[in-house]
Amino acid sequence: MIGRLNHVAIAVPDLAAARAMYRDALGATVTEPEDLPAHGVTVVFVELDNSKIELLHPLGEGSPIQSFLDKNPSGGMHHVCYEVSDILAARDRLVAQGARVLGDGEPKNGAHDKPVLFLHPKDFAGTLVELEQV
Ligand code: CO
Repeated sequence: MIGRLNHVAIAVPDLAAARAMYRDALGATVTEPEDLPAHGVTVVFVELDNSKIELLHPLGEGSPIQSFLDKNPSGGMHHVCYEVSDILAARDRLVAQGARVLGDGEPKNGAHDKPVLFLHPKDFAGTLVELEQV
């Protein structure tokens, strides 16, 4: 059911420093920071040949990234994002198998303006999973 790895997301306490590290030390192509108020994050994408890294930093009050950074002050891997062709069919299949979808269970538009859902980490080997319809 899942297709390509769309991105791996890393929560970072200092977005400018993380962006510069990927650009300068690792020699990667990085995007300009983009605020996503609906998701409570500012994102930078590191563009790799075969996938992307999403650098996440809290934006505004009650950002879902803030509690993660409180527990992981130097940052860390936050989620992995897999592509699916039909997000509602994927959701229904996973729910039928007992998986928990976060939030109200309805897809929201993510960083690429495509529908996304998040799945409970306890159902997926301790890893928060994002599904993105492409
Ligand atoms: Co993501």
